Amino acid sequence: MKYILVTGANGQLGKKIRDLTIDNKELKFIFCDIEEFDITKVEEVNKFFEGTSIDLVINCAAFTAVDLAESEQEAAYSVNSYAPGLLAKATNIQKAKIIHISTDYVFDGTKNTPYSEKDKTNPTSVYGKTKLEGEQNTIKENPDAIIIRTSWLYSEYGKNFTKTIIELGKKKDFLKVVYDQVGTPTYAGDLAEAVLSIVYKYFNENFWIPGIYHFSNQGVCSWYDFAVKILNSCNINIDIFPVLSNEFPTVAIRPKYSVLNKEKIIKNYGINIPHWVKSCEKMLLTYKDFA
Ligand SMILES: NC(=O)c1ccc[n+]([C@@H]2O[C@H](COP(=O)([O-])OP(=O)(O)OC[C@H]3O[C@@H](n4cnc5c(N)ncnc54)[C@H](OP(=O)(O)O)[C@@H]3O)[C@@H](O)[C@H]2O)c1
Repeated sequence: MKYILVTGANGQLGKKIRDLTIDNKELKFIFCDIEEFDITKVEEVNKFFEGTSIDLVINCAAFTAVDLAESEQEAAYSVNSYAPGLLAKATNIQKAKIIHISTDYVFDGTKNTPYSEKDKTNPTSVYGKTKLEGEQNTIKENPDAIIIRTSWLYSEYGKNFTKTIIELGKKKDFLKVVYDQVGTPTYAGDLAEAVLSIVYKYFNENFWIPGIYHFSNQGVCSWYDFAVKILNSCNINIDIFPVLSNEFPTVAIRPKYSVLNKEKIIKNYGINIPHWVKSCEKMLLTYKDFA
C-alpha cells in the first residue's frame, strides 16, 4: 500500500482532494490539518514522519489571508515559507515525492501576456513573497519536488470570492467590483483532479517530471466579469458596476494581470483543462446554498 499525506486537509483544495479520493482503495490518503499536526513545528513534523512511512506529500496548507499577511508577517512566513521546507526535507529523507501548491501572486502583474514558469518572479505582497520562498525552500530541500502555481481558487468550501459575491448579492441592491485586475479563476475541483492525475501517473506508471507548473482554468477575466457570471448563474438580479482598484484600496498590493500559461502541464501531463465559465457553472450547480 502507498501512503499519501495531504496537509491543509480542511481547506478548499484539501477538501476537494478528499471528495475525489473517498472511494480509492488502492492508495491510502492521510488527511491532516493543524489539529493533527502543525506543519510549522519541526518536532511535530518529525514525529509524524517517524511514525508513518509516507510515499508522497500533497502540501495544500497555507496562510492564505493575503491582506492579513501584511501585518502578520511572521505567521505567514512560518506556514508559507518555512514549513514547506520542513515537509520537503522530511520527504527527501524518506525518498518520498512532494507536490507543493503555490500562487500567481509570485508575479508582479506587469506583463500582459500569460505568465510561463520561466518568467521572472517579483511578488508585490508579503503573501506572494512568503509563497515564493516556500517554493524555493521546497526545491532546495527536495529537488525532485513538483510545485503547482494556481490562481483565484474557489470551491463549495471555505471562504472565497464566489461565495462572498453570492452573499453580498443576496443582501445588497448593487455591487461594485474591480475590473482592472485580470486573471483566471480556478475551481478547486479541477485543480484537485490535476494534482491527482499527477499522483496516479506516478504510482501507476512511475512517471514524474519535477519542476514548477502553472495550473488555472482556461480563459481570462476580471474580478468584475467573474462576479457578473456568478450573479447571473444564480439568478441574482442586482446592478453590478465595474470600478478601478483604487476605489477599493487593500493593504496588500495585488498583480493587475496574473493569467498563467498552462502549456507545460498540458504537454508533460496531458491534463485537460476546462474553461473557467464551464467550471464556474458546474460549481454553482453543486453549491446549493444560493437563491
Ligand atoms: N485561495 C486562493 O485564492 C489561492 C490562490 C492561489 C493559490 N492558492 C494556494 O492554493 C493552496 C490551497 O489554498 P486553499 O484556498 O485551499 O487554502 P485554505 O482554504 O486557506 O486552506 C489552507 C489550510 O491550511 C491549514 N493550515 C494553516 N496553517 C497550518 C499549519 N501550521 N499546519 C497545518 N495546517 C495549516 C488551514 O487551517 P486554518 O484555516 O485553521 O488556518 C487551512 O485548513 C495554498 O497553497 C494557497 O496558497 C490559493
